[in-house]
Amino acid sequence: MKQPYVFITRRIPEDIITPLKAEGRVSMWEKEETPVPYERLEEEIKKADAVFCNVSDPIDAALLEKAERLKVIATMAVGYNNIDIQAAAERNIQVAHTPGVLTETTADLTFALLMAAARRIPEGIEVIKNNEWGAWAPFFLTGRDIHHARLGIIGMGRIGEAVAKRATGFDMDIVYHNRSRKPETEEAVGAVYVEMEELLETSDFVCVQTPYTKETHHLMNREAFQKMKSTAVFVNTSRGPIVDETALYEALKEGDIQAAGLDVFENEPVRSNHPLLTLPNVTALPHIGSASEDTRRKMAEMTVGHILQGLRGEDVAHKVEM
Ligand code: GLV
Repeated sequence: MKQPYVFITRRIPEDIITPLKAEGRVSMWEKEETPVPYERLEEEIKKADAVFCNVSDPIDAALLEKAERLKVIATMAVGYNNIDIQAAAERNIQVAHTPGVLTETTADLTFALLMAAARRIPEGIEVIKNNEWGAWAPFFLTGRDIHHARLGIIGMGRIGEAVAKRATGFDMDIVYHNRSRKPETEEAVGAVYVEMEELLETSDFVCVQTPYTKETHHLMNREAFQKMKSTAVFVNTSRGPIVDETALYEALKEGDIQAAGLDVFENEPVRSNHPLLTLPNVTALPHIGSASEDTRRKMAEMTVGHILQGLRGEDVAHKVEM
């Protein structure tokens, strides 16, 4: 029987992919800084039995049409909006993702971003690095209190709950909105379910933790930002297109809201001329929610495990269902 062929769309440490090499032929996109060009993906997907991909690889229907022997697509991410799940299912290709393993790390980063935006940490760093630190001034770089403030979480899944858990340590008043109520979470972290409107109107921090789907596209639009408090801080560590960036830019510029902390953007990577990056009240990060050494290793190992399962004809452990 022909040896299976696995294509990996980013450089992954050798020791993690050793089990794949024992199973078949493996090739890996060589360049660390640039994503695999679509044309190369087209060539690879034609030959591959398995693809190890990540958040920024567009595994769309046109690409999947080229697949001749593909059995499994394993993404090193919890979010899988870059993969056409239906097109994969029609071709009996299993799709796997990495839930759970990155929850706490992503919640840490979410909280770091929330705190940085509220307390104007990037602005403080700029001041000191640019030798602009003058006399101590009573209202210099004053931000917003985190403790005892109201945190509104949109999307109460694993990461939402982990963010809420952190908020309890700051005595925050936690409200959430979700497609369904989460009684266990309410019990565990004292979060209160509210309608979206109430969440937006009353929260000091609005944190988006929902997956990106057709339903959540531009969920945070002009109307939503206008409902928020003018002192509120908006945080997004889920997916960029959940936010209408033009509306967010206007809200921040016009003072409809106070600040934003963003780890994700509509079209990544963004450059310094992106309108949101020109605003002092935006704290921006380059999509590093799950980026701790340990968690990224665990995600990669889990992805390798999914590929091995798929190649052996087993059900993958964390299958994305339609
Ligand atoms: C990262 O964005 C992920 O979905 O894991």
